Amino acid sequence: MSDPKKLFIKTYGCQMNVYDSERMAEALGGQGYVETQSAEDADMILLNTCHIREKAAEKVYSELGRFKGLKAAKPDLKIGVAGCVAQAEGEEIMRRQPLVDLVVGPQSYHRLPELEAKARAGEKALDTDFPEEDKFEKLKGRPKAKRGPTAFLTVQEGCDKFCAFCVVPYTRGAEVSRPADRILREANELVERGVREITLLGQNVNAYHGAGPNGDMTLAGLIWELDKIDGLERIRFTTSHPNDMTDDLIEAHGTCAKLMPYLHLPVQAGSDKILKRMNRSHTADSYLRLVERIRAARPDILMSGDFIVGFPEETEADFQATLDLVEEIRYGYAYSFKYSTRPGTPAAERAQVDPAEADDRLQRLQAVITRHQREIQDSMVGREVSVLFEKPGRLPGQMVGKSEYLHAVHVQAPGLSTGQIARVRIVASGPNSLAGEPV
Ligand code: 5AD
Ligand code: SF4
Repeated sequence: MSDPKKLFIKTYGCQMNVYDSERMAEALGGQGYVETQSAEDADMILLNTCHIREKAAEKVYSELGRFKGLKAAKPDLKIGVAGCVAQAEGEEIMRRQPLVDLVVGPQSYHRLPELEAKARAGEKALDTDFPEEDKFEKLKGRPKAKRGPTAFLTVQEGCDKFCAFCVVPYTRGAEVSRPADRILREANELVERGVREITLLGQNVNAYHGAGPNGDMTLAGLIWELDKIDGLERIRFTTSHPNDMTDDLIEAHGTCAKLMPYLHLPVQAGSDKILKRMNRSHTADSYLRLVERIRAARPDILMSGDFIVGFPEETEADFQATLDLVEEIRYGYAYSFKYSTRPGTPAAERAQVDPAEADDRLQRLQAVITRHQREIQDSMVGREVSVLFEKPGRLPGQMVGKSEYLHAVHVQAPGLSTGQIARVRIVASGPNSLAGEPV
C-alpha cells in the first residue's frame, strides 16, 4: 500500500467549525488521508473559515498567500477553503487566488470525497449549494481512533432569526434540526469510545425541533433521552437564543442531574432601542426576567454571554444600558466584540459609530466583564466541585479538567486518570484556572 496522504486542517471560529473539521477529516480518511499538524507535510490543506467578524476574507487571502511557496515546492499539494467564507465568497476566492483547488460550503461537506477526487484530477472543484440531503447522515467516515472524554455533537444548524448584524442565516442557511434517533446513535457511539461529556451544538441550539418517535422533540426532550445513556455523565449545549428558552428546558436545568449548570445565552446589548434595531425581538427586561427564572430553577448556574458594542446608532446612554445589564446579570464568562460591518446584512447600510468611541466602549465593557469573571472564579475557593479530567497538566502527577461551571481546574494527585470524574475542593484561584485537591 502506498503511504497515506496527509491532510492539514486549520479551523477558525466557532465550535461548529471544530466539529465540522473533525467530520471532514473522517470523510477524507476514507480517501486515504491521515491528519498532520503541519502544513509543510500536507498533501491537502483545508482552511475551515469563519465569516462572523472582522476582515474574515482578507485573513483567508493572506493565509492562502503563505502557501504559495509550499505549492511551488510540491505541485501536487491541493488547497481548499471550507466554512462560511467559502459559502459567502467561494467563487470570488477561486477567481482571485489561483492556488485554490477546492471550495466547499458548510452544507456540502458530504461531497468532499468527490470534490477531492476532482481536485486531484487537476480540475477546480466548487460546491456552495444548499442541497436537500442530510449532510450529517452522509458524512460517515472513519471515526478518529483517539479521542478525549469530551465531544461536540451537532444537533441543529442554521438560523431563521436574522439579527441585523449577522451573516449566519446567509452562510449556514435556514434552521434545520437533525432527527433525534441519529443524534442518539451518534451519542451512543461517542460514549462507547470513552466520551463522558457531550456538548450539543447549534447556531440556535435551543430552537431544536428534530423528529422524534412521537413527533418533533424539543431540546429538553433530547436532553432527557441523552440522560438515559449509561456512561454519559455530562450534557451541555450551545448557543441559545433567549426567545427559545422554553419552560421544559428551564425546568431541565433544575431537574436533570447530567445537565451542567452553565448557560451561554447571548443578549448582545442592554438598550431596548438597540435590541430592536438589531432585530433581537426581546428586551433587556424580558432577558433579565428570563435569567431570573433560570436561576430560580438552578440557583448556581453560571451565565455566559455575547455582546456587540458600537452597533450603528448606539449612543453613550445605550451603551450605559449594556453596562447596567451586565452589572445585574454578572456573567461568569462573556465575549464582547466591536460591531463590524458584514456586507449584505441590514445593519451594514446604517450610520456607523465612531471607531475610537467603539474601541473605548469595548474596553470599558471588558473591564466590567473581567471583574465579574474574576470575582466569580475567586468565589469558587473553598467550594467543592466535580471535575472531569481531560489531560495531564504540565507538572508531574498533575491533571487538568473542567468543573461543572466550565472552570479549568488543576489537581495534583497520584492515580487520577483522563476521563475520570472526581470531587475536588478548590484551594486557589489563578489567572486562568483553579487549583484543587481531591476530597
Ligand atoms: N460584528 C460584531 N460581532 C458580531 N457577532 C456576530 N456578528 C457580528 C458582527 N457583525 C458576534 C455576536 C454573536 C457572536 C458569535 O459573534 O455577539 O453572538
Ligand atoms: Fe446570528 Fe442572531 Fe441567528 Fe445568533 S440568533 S446566529 S446572532 S442571526
